[in-house]
Amino acid sequence: MVSDNGAMPVSVSSATHSAATRRPPGPDRYLYGKTIEGMRDALNFNMINWKNYGDSIYFPAFPGFGWYLFVHPSAVEQILQTNQSNYQKPMRFLQPFGYLGGRGLLTNEGEHWRKQRRLIQPSFHRERLAALGDAMSQAVCQQVQEWEKLPEGQIIDLFSEMSKLTFRVIGRTLFGDDLSDKAPAFFTSLEHSIEHISNRMNSPVLIPDWLPTPANQRFHQHRNVLDDVVYGIIERRQSLTEPPQDLLDMLMKSTFEGTDEGMNIRQLRDEIMTLLISGHETVALSLTWALFLLGENRHVEAVLLDELKSVLDGNPAKMENLPKLPYNKMVYNEALRLYPPIWGQPREAIADDEIQGFRVEKGLPVTVCQYFTHRHPEFFPEPERFNPERFLPENEAQLPKFAFFPFGGGSRSCIGNHFAMAEGQMALATILQRFKFELLEGQNVEPKAGCTLRPAKPIKVRLKKRTAPL
Ligand code: HEM
Repeated sequence: MVSDNGAMPVSVSSATHSAATRRPPGPDRYLYGKTIEGMRDALNFNMINWKNYGDSIYFPAFPGFGWYLFVHPSAVEQILQTNQSNYQKPMRFLQPFGYLGGRGLLTNEGEHWRKQRRLIQPSFHRERLAALGDAMSQAVCQQVQEWEKLPEGQIIDLFSEMSKLTFRVIGRTLFGDDLSDKAPAFFTSLEHSIEHISNRMNSPVLIPDWLPTPANQRFHQHRNVLDDVVYGIIERRQSLTEPPQDLLDMLMKSTFEGTDEGMNIRQLRDEIMTLLISGHETVALSLTWALFLLGENRHVEAVLLDELKSVLDGNPAKMENLPKLPYNKMVYNEALRLYPPIWGQPREAIADDEIQGFRVEKGLPVTVCQYFTHRHPEFFPEPERFNPERFLPENEAQLPKFAFFPFGGGSRSCIGNHFAMAEGQMALATILQRFKFELLEGQNVEPKAGCTLRPAKPIKVRLKKRTAPL
């Protein structure tokens, strides 16, 4: 229940069992139909239940099966970090995503995942990223130059344009390859593939990938298009006599600790596919939401433009400029808070556990959701308000560890965290100086929770030029 002042209760103690044996509160009837509804409109469904039942909720789907949602930061910490060995990614996630990502980092598990993560992690260390700064900044500028060519006032779809930018950045920085001419085919096939994966995840029965259903066959055609892009990256690199020393070079030459055994071509494909997909859509969404929020909050944009003018004076942002742009980072973080591109993470309990005084049963799904925790009124007063001041250092220091966790946590946290933060801030600072993004009137902008948190309908903006070209 929501109190008179609109604040949500932190927990509701209605159950009569002892703390260790009772389930969290939740809707009391079996919910098969509601389960489907919840999957179709996860944000509203979970929001209503969070308001009704508090921070720990159990959804009974049918006899003997249900799932948990935990919203409080300390529960998130327990699931993602302190007791992470008890919470694995569920088959319902791993299998459908694996149809595309194979055994890449996101969908791999166990010892094989650990080996691959150890192998790839060094390429994402801060020091290595500093070396990518110039390529990142150049890729952003190239996309800006493409937008310069558009007629004044051109109407664009924000997410699709931001996707072009981030696809260009990831191609240039991680794979030394300008992928911009591959983008249209890649995006179309990715769109179909993601829809197929979502359908598979939400289907009551897991349909295997090898079954020649029409949906599977269509998916395989689209996957072939994506594969062509990935294998093309590998082939072009193999043909170079003096390859650049980048992530791709490292992936192709690396060997597992204490052996001279490297990655086979299939594993290489899986890792590149995973990085290409997880690394471009997420950042594109973060920029889409940030620009939308700035369009709705011109007073915030004005403060940011002042900062950009005084530090950059119209020049594109470089890696070394970022520490001098604290407000830019606060704006970016506040956008990640309100619209976290990865809005929730599914897990499954390996053994019984106790969270927030409630029983969690072995084998059942357990979900944590950035989208809700980031709106917890105890940590973020007036949670729906776009207010970058929340991320002033003195305010951020007051937040418990998992009140804000756009990049997840524990050993499965985002490998591209620092990369994304650098790219997001750099792109925001550069493009805002050059363009004003005017939201078209009469649009009802809402997020839709699928595999990622996309706008439910395209956000249309009019692109207006501000100053001299970069
Ligand atoms: C704003 C941008 C981004 C956000 C919000 C984001 C968020 C996340 C989150 C929440 C996870 C954890 C998923 C889980 O625990 O189930 C994750 C994992 C991952 N992310 Fe990101 N990410 C972003 C950008 C990137 C970039 C730029 C890359 C690569 C270039 C990347 C690559 C990955 C990979 C490979 C994993 C799986 C890691 C593993 O399990 O070992 N992400 N990301």
